[in-house]
Amino acid sequence: MSTTGDGTRAVRAGLPEPEQYEPTLPGPVFAAHFHLSGEPVGPYTYGRETNPTWTHLERAIGELEAPGEGVGTTVFASGMAAVSAVLLSQARTGDVVVLPDDGYQALPLVREQLEAYGVEVRTAPTGGDAQLALLDGAKLLWIETPSNPGLDVCDVRRLVEAAHAAGVLVAVDNTLATPLGQRPLELGADFSVASDTKGMTGHGDILLGHVSCRDPQLTAGVRRWRKVVGAIPGPMEAWLAHRSLATLQLRVDRQCTTALALAEALAERADVAGLRYPGLPGDPSYATAVRQMRRFGSVVSFVLADEDTAERFLAALRLVDDATSFGGVRSTAERRARWGGDAVPEGFVRFSVGAEDPEDLLADVQRALDESVR
Ligand SMILES: Cc1ncc(COP(=O)(O)O)c(C=O)c1O
Repeated sequence: MSTTGDGTRAVRAGLPEPEQYEPTLPGPVFAAHFHLSGEPVGPYTYGRETNPTWTHLERAIGELEAPGEGVGTTVFASGMAAVSAVLLSQARTGDVVVLPDDGYQALPLVREQLEAYGVEVRTAPTGGDAQLALLDGAKLLWIETPSNPGLDVCDVRRLVEAAHAAGVLVAVDNTLATPLGQRPLELGADFSVASDTKGMTGHGDILLGHVSCRDPQLTAGVRRWRKVVGAIPGPMEAWLAHRSLATLQLRVDRQCTTALALAEALAERADVAGLRYPGLPGDPSYATAVRQMRRFGSVVSFVLADEDTAERFLAALRLVDDATSFGGVRSTAERRARWGGDAVPEGFVRFSVGAEDPEDLLADVQRALDESVR
């Protein structure tokens, strides 16, 4: 499957060998335990450790993360379960971990937890390579690129080279890009981590996360953590996720094309400031993004005059739901400052482009802006 295109890989990812009278994608296996006599060895023993529905999904995600390589993937109940599995299973008292200071807004909560366990946390912004000065004596470098919600990008290869030279492991939160946008393991990272609640599953109806690693020992540590904490996905969620992967390329291609068109349209408007989209030539992240990304994501961010203007804009949209999260087939947007966790202006809007017809969506946005900007 390594030589096929992304669409072919997506529709076939993780499918078992064809068997007469069996379905193409076997249905969800609902089981807390499995028949097991004698020595308690796998593949399927107890439902917190393994499940055949996870196995198919984990193979599928692994094929997308590193085609043809057979990397180890572990699925979790949510993106945060996956994030915590890497950070909390790797870091020990006295270790140093480097985190972004502009990443997903729950990362500071993980930081508090790490510090409570006696881990030293250093932070750097995503863009600008400031991480390089913080690697000395560190155990793990965590990067999120593009970052949520600021859409800054860092040079994964450059950071990985420096980190590995200093004996530091690297984890990349790849949520925004999905493996069709960027493949962190191929860029040298040790862990590729994502919230699959977003673009990977893309329908805004399930929470899920995963961690992929090349090194079997790192995979074993992540799997052990899942067994200890029990943050496992339900079989139905895992199956729905696998079903959704078949349309990943269709969805992501449509979303990325429309996101670029939206960014280009917004760039023409005097009432829109602080526009960010990594795929927009002229964006501060563009040069780095084109070196390591194959698609630039579904999220566009920009700043309107103030809180009231942004709220009026969101209320005026007819095809876009005012909701958090991103990457779904239905466009969503939100005023990010309402949460209080991100260092963004009051009028900052994170816009997640869905699979609507581009001309309909752009017309809706232009009309809503015209109506709300005074
Ligand atoms: C970049 C990033 N990482 C991790 C998460 C956490 O994912 P979940 O909400 O599935 O736990 C999110 C959620 O928005 C995110 O945007």
